[in-house]
Parts: sequence; C-alpha cells; structure tokens
Amino acid sequence: MPNILVTGGAGFIGSNFVYYMLEKHPDYRIVCIDSLTYAGNLSTLEKALQNENFRFVKADITDREAVDKLFGEENFTAVVNFAAESHVDRSIESPEVFLKTNILGTQVLMDMARKYGNIRYHQVSTDEVYGDLPLDRPDLFFTEETPIHTSSPYSASKASADLLVMAYYRTYKLPVTISRCSNNYGPYHFPEKLIPLMIINALHGKSLPVYGDGLNVRDWLYVEDHCKAIDMILHGGRIGEVYNIGGHNERANIDVVKTVLSILGKDESLITYVKDRPGHDMRYAIDPTKIKNELGWYPETTFENGIKKTVEWYLQNEAWWQEIVSGEYMNYYEKMYKDR
Ligand code: NAD
Ligand code: TYD
Repeated sequence: MPNILVTGGAGFIGSNFVYYMLEKHPDYRIVCIDSLTYAGNLSTLEKALQNENFRFVKADITDREAVDKLFGEENFTAVVNFAAESHVDRSIESPEVFLKTNILGTQVLMDMARKYGNIRYHQVSTDEVYGDLPLDRPDLFFTEETPIHTSSPYSASKASADLLVMAYYRTYKLPVTISRCSNNYGPYHFPEKLIPLMIINALHGKSLPVYGDGLNVRDWLYVEDHCKAIDMILHGGRIGEVYNIGGHNERANIDVVKTVLSILGKDESLITYVKDRPGHDMRYAIDPTKIKNELGWYPETTFENGIKKTVEWYLQNEAWWQEIVSGEYMNYYEKMYKDR
C-alpha cells in the first residue's frame, strides 16, 4: 500500500491535498505531520480524521528526533513537503522562522528520506523564487529555466530549499521533484491572504486594504488544480526535474478585489488604497508548457468559476473562519494594517 507523508497538511494547500488524495486513491495511506502554527488548523482535517487510512501527527518538521521517530514507525513510499511559513508580509516582519522551517525543515525531511531507503521526495515550491516580471512585457513568462531571483525573505527561503533539494539529488541521488506554483485560492485559505481577507472584510463591511495602486498581477490557480498537478508529478514526473504549475489566469489585484465585491453584491467604496508592501513583486506569470506536454496537466477551473465557488465556500463555512478571525488573528491585523 503506498504510504505518503504530507507535511503541513493542516494548512491551506496541504489540507486540500489530503482530501484530494484520500478521494482519488482510497487504497493509499496518508500521514500528515503538522506543528499547528497560527496557520494550521486541526478542524480543517476533521473529516479526514474519520478515515482509517489517515493519520495525523502533531510535530515540527525541524524536530529531527520526532521526524526520525515517525519515519521509523511508518513505511513511507513518498514525502510531499507543504510545511512552510508562507506569508510574505510576515517574512518581512520576522524572517528567522522562515529560514528555520522552510530551509532546515526541508533538510531534516530529506535526511530522513535518505535514511529510510531513499524515499521519493517532492518539494512544493513557488513561482516567487523567480522574482517578478515587468507589467509592460506581457509576452514574458516564468519557465523552469528562468533564473532564481528572489525579492522577499519568504521567496529567498523557498529558493534556498529548492537549491538544497537539487543538491540532495545530485550528491546523494535522492529521487526528488520540485513543483513551482502560482498563487492558489479556494477552500481553507487562511484569512491573512488577499482573497479570503477581502471576502471576510467585505462581509463585515470593513475597508478592503489594497497595497499600492492595486496593479500588481498574480496568476491565480484553483487549489484543486494544484493538488491534481502534484499527484501527476508524484506518479509520472521525471526524477530531478522542476515543474511549473499555473494557468494563464493573470489578474491585477484591484480586479480580483472588485470581482469579490461584485459576487457579494457589496459596494466598491469599501476599497482603500494603503501603503505598499516593501519590495512588492509586480507580476507573476507561469508558462505551464512542460507539465502540459509531459504529463497532460492543465488547469480545469476558470477564474470566473473558481472565485464564485470560493466566495460560496466562505459564505457556507463561516464557523471555520470566524474561529480564526476572533482569535490571535485580530492582533496580527491591527499590527500589520494600523499604520498603512
Ligand atoms: P499555509 O501557511 O496555509 O500552511 C502551512 C502549514 O504548515 C500550516 O498547517 C502550518 O501549521 C504548517 N507548518 C508551518 N511550519 C511548520 C513546521 N515547522 N513543522 C510542521 N508544520 C509546519 O501555507 P499554504 O498556502 O498551504 O502553502 C503550502 C505550501 O505551498 C508552502 O510550501 C508554500 O510555500 C507553497 N505555495 C503556496 C502558494 C499559495 O498560493 N498559497 C503558492 C505556491 C506555493
Ligand atoms: P498574498 O495573498 O499575500 O500572496 P503573495 O504575496 O504571495 O502573492 O497577496 C497577493 C497580492 O495581493 C499581492 O500582490 C499583495 C496584495 N495584497 C493586498 O493588496 N492587500 C492585502 O491586504 C494583502 C494580504 C495582499
């Protein structure tokens, strides 16, 4: 029976991946390790915990002893590493934990993958490792050959991890793959990120803080399409390769915010332009030709459909996000937005 270790499975993409895999491969065992930071939420995995093929372990991926113990107990056939500090704004305030989790955590996982039989290892990375593209060159896209050129402590930590993964492949022949994905959206997205933050603020009638002039462009991918791509890479990807995941769904932030308002039937007067993020990347855009040609992957969900489904999910799952925004999150919000 394939036995897959999913790290960071109590977060946004990891939890969607857990559910995707349990449904797609009912004969697989899925084990999740997550330290439940502010971004991890065990209630997200409530339904998975009822599945006998699923196990949850609360532990930190940087805790070598705990990770070693887990590998000793389980007979993993693959590792998919989602666990990370993931928010650019937080990385600007406090970079240290980003380096610890994103780089050293990756190292611990790969050391254990080597120790327990050269286990297949997949690193979930980001298009942010490529830096950004100018707005006046819509013909340019990130390919797997685009040089690494990072802007934030977050992207620098992810890029460092990617380099380490490729070093373990070359030096130790660890069977690795890396995927670099554009911005995801969908269910269980933590409310500090653009789309859920705007949905929740709009529902509360609070102002919607758009950084700078709102013209920065992101290439939005519905989270389920990302999960499908990782599953395809795990099963058919070539060892030692990087795959970009994204799907020509570029939108300026201000247009995303206006779309959310229009779906909710709220007024655009809620939009407030605030001080820009330092080092703010202008445009991300993925060229997905490699994964399309090699594995037949393409994004199935259009932005129009995906954003409607996402807003609907937040309307129907108020208890999930109310619990988050009523706790420590408000202190974060106050700190990050009060002087903007
Ligand atoms: P998230 O912040 O929602 O979730 C991260 C999860 O990792 C949380 O459950 C958290 O508790 C856990 N975690 C953090 N530090 C840990 C540690 N030291 N040990 C164990 N668990 C720990 O993040 P996300 O948006 O789901 O992103 C998942 C991965 O995908 C990350 O590696 C991120 O870099 C990458 N990624 C995200 C996006 C995006 O748009 N969100 C796009 C491309 C790539
Ligand atoms: P975010 O969701 O933080 O993802 P990333 O920085 O990894 O792309 O932000 C997406 C875009 O939205 C980014 O250009 C910053 C912008 N943004 C705002 O304008 N206001 C906000 O309150 C947030 C959180 C983000």
